[in-house]
Amino acid sequence: MIEVIHLSKHYGAKRAVDDISFTVDQGQILGFLGPNGAGKSTTMNIITGYISSTSGTVKIDGVDILEEPIKAKKKIGYLPEQPPLYMDMTVQGYLRFMYELKKVTLPRDKHIDEICQTVKISDVQHRLIKNLSKGYKQRVGLAQALLGNPPVLILDEPTVGLDPQQIIEIRNLIQDLGQKHTVILSSHILPEVQAVCDRVIVISKGKLVADDTPEHLTQSLSHHNLVARVEGEQQQVLQTIRTVPGVKNVEVIKTLEGETADYQIEPQENADIRRELNFALAAKRLALLSLKNEELSLEDVFLELIQNDEAEQTKDADAEQAQGDAGETESPDGQEQPASLNEGETGSAAQEEALPQDENEHLPAGDTPHEEDGPEANPDETDAKKEED
Ligand SMILES: Nc1ncnc2c1ncn2[C@@H]1O[C@H](COP(=O)(O)OP(=O)(O)OP(=O)(O)O)[C@@H](O)[C@H]1O
Ligand SMILES: [Mg+2]
Repeated sequence: MIEVIHLSKHYGAKRAVDDISFTVDQGQILGFLGPNGAGKSTTMNIITGYISSTSGTVKIDGVDILEEPIKAKKKIGYLPEQPPLYMDMTVQGYLRFMYELKKVTLPRDKHIDEICQTVKISDVQHRLIKNLSKGYKQRVGLAQALLGNPPVLILDEPTVGLDPQQIIEIRNLIQDLGQKHTVILSSHILPEVQAVCDRVIVISKGKLVADDTPEHLTQSLSHHNLVARVEGEQQQVLQTIRTVPGVKNVEVIKTLEGETADYQIEPQENADIRRELNFALAAKRLALLSLKNEELSLEDVFLELIQNDEAEQTKDADAEQAQGDAGETESPDGQEQPASLNEGETGSAAQEEALPQDENEHLPAGDTPHEEDGPEANPDETDAKKEED
């Protein structure tokens, strides 16, 4: 349903997105996970046709977003990082306005009513958007993305800034939407993708560092340590566990009330130490209260992946540096610059480069006219809004 092929976006020498490829099948909910500045929003802005790529292709249901932008965009509902809401409009007025703007052909009032029911905003339809809570504003943003019933939904950090109750509600909503739509959802909140997504793509510094199910990711990096909760004098427990055949290492990870503590036990490779551990402790009248596999949270996986990736990148950078020092004429930077200039981005790329990192962090796709905006994009929206006013 979504094909992203060798996608790159360079801002001058900065590689915001660096040769990312993946596909998303129909009906899948894909989590796009990465720390701040990883390139999530940039990738989403390219997938939705708001900005162009430096190189690479995006196809939505077989339609190339650059070659046939209008046709491709009709298949996409987009909730940008900053939802493109007009604060002085009522919810209903805004949705009708967006309905016209998107040239939706479904019966207007019925369609908007259905969407309002889906995202649970029917009761605020006549209120001004500026008076709604953040969670409700986010729902209105989602409603806007659902206009025209597009098969693909791209949601950029849909739960950011919401309270825990609203986060759960929006997550449930996204899961429901996932039954009828193909969804890409970005987040840097790990439990979020674990809770909602069938598959996770992890990106770091513009590069794809993992692509798997949340469970596989955790398993593949899990070290299969055990955590035993034992009641008894700590030194005696430690000594007893050390004598169990197959135990490589043991340490206290948490001291609890009384004489109880949690012990992390690292077995030798492939050793199943559970029975012998049980017998050894029982022989000393040390009570084994619980025994479980230590599971890496996605957070640990994430940190590990990124650390691995950073180690790789440092190696690469060192290698590049060495090459540069050796007086190579075709340095990587020398090759990149023209790729960006060829697109007619010279002025903006140079300007953006000149900005300090923090200031150019975000150009919200929904609000800011972009140099590369396609026919349906924001300048038109702003004009149309003025007319309506
Ligand atoms: N218009 C621009 N000009 C220059 N650099 C940019 C521009 N837009 C984004 N960048 C840079 O590209 C990188 C990726 O940014 P992006 O907004 O895609 O990250 P993100 O993963 O969405 O982060 P966050 O979690 O903070 O939303 C960042 O280093 C950012 O500074
Ligand atoms: Mg972002």
